[in-house]
Amino acid sequence: MKSILDNRPVLAKQVADVAEVAGYLWQKGWAERNGGNITINITDVIDDEIRNMKPISEPVSIGTTLPHLKGCYFFCKGTNKRMRDLARWPMENGSVIRILDDCSSYVMIADNPVKPTSELPSHLSMHNYLIGSGSSYKAALHTHPIDLIAMTHNPAYLEKDKLTYLLWSMIPETRAFCPRGLGIIPYKMPSSVELAEATVKELADYDVVMWEKHGVCAVGENIMEAFDMVDTLSKSAQIYLTAKGMGFEPTGTSMEDMQALKEAFNLPK
Ligand code: 13P
Ligand code: ZN
Repeated sequence: MKSILDNRPVLAKQVADVAEVAGYLWQKGWAERNGGNITINITDVIDDEIRNMKPISEPVSIGTTLPHLKGCYFFCKGTNKRMRDLARWPMENGSVIRILDDCSSYVMIADNPVKPTSELPSHLSMHNYLIGSGSSYKAALHTHPIDLIAMTHNPAYLEKDKLTYLLWSMIPETRAFCPRGLGIIPYKMPSSVELAEATVKELADYDVVMWEKHGVCAVGENIMEAFDMVDTLSKSAQIYLTAKGMGFEPTGTSMEDMQALKEAFNLPK
């Protein structure tokens, strides 16, 4: 079957990276059923032939207006599609969409009319924010890591930066590779524009945020970077839980040692 990826190695590689990460999410146990979603901004690698492709769907409303997305293109996981299937057959479980000139609707253009994720308002709002703020980030990831979600069921961890410091202090890598910490977004209805707006607000300070009692949302230069940050935070959560399981409260890296890491790695916070 013909695919938009044919003879487009750069685009094909980006979709292959999404598929690879989708496989990791399943292996991690973070992707029950259709849990989680991925979108990547592929506008940079779109050629004139793609620009002239006929839509394969009617226009669909996003539910919000996103002025920076006019004419942008995204590869999106399909709603109700499984990560484990996206891993093997990305173009059957995801699609390429074009944002229309009204900045509030999209059409699907390839390969199949697979309706994008129900979290599209959040994903596209994040991409809109990133473009508007001059960021080079192209990827957005939402997933359901068991350990990090469990922690949001304790009100004590919902206090601003409580989890950031706890998780940073479990292993130096988390301090270094998730340097903007972990934002917290109080519970909101999944898929809602309200959730999208709350998520975008936090991106000014964080690359990774928790959706209370639901999941995590990360943005990054590319999908591997976004995955790595969540993986690193989850590793820290595992260390914390393992220590607790052995019956003691982990000591945690001291603030002094964390400050030294900040200076050594030239970290933003
Ligand atoms: P989708 O299948 O629509 O992507 O939804 C999965 C999910 O995790 C919703 O929050
Ligand atoms: Zn979810």
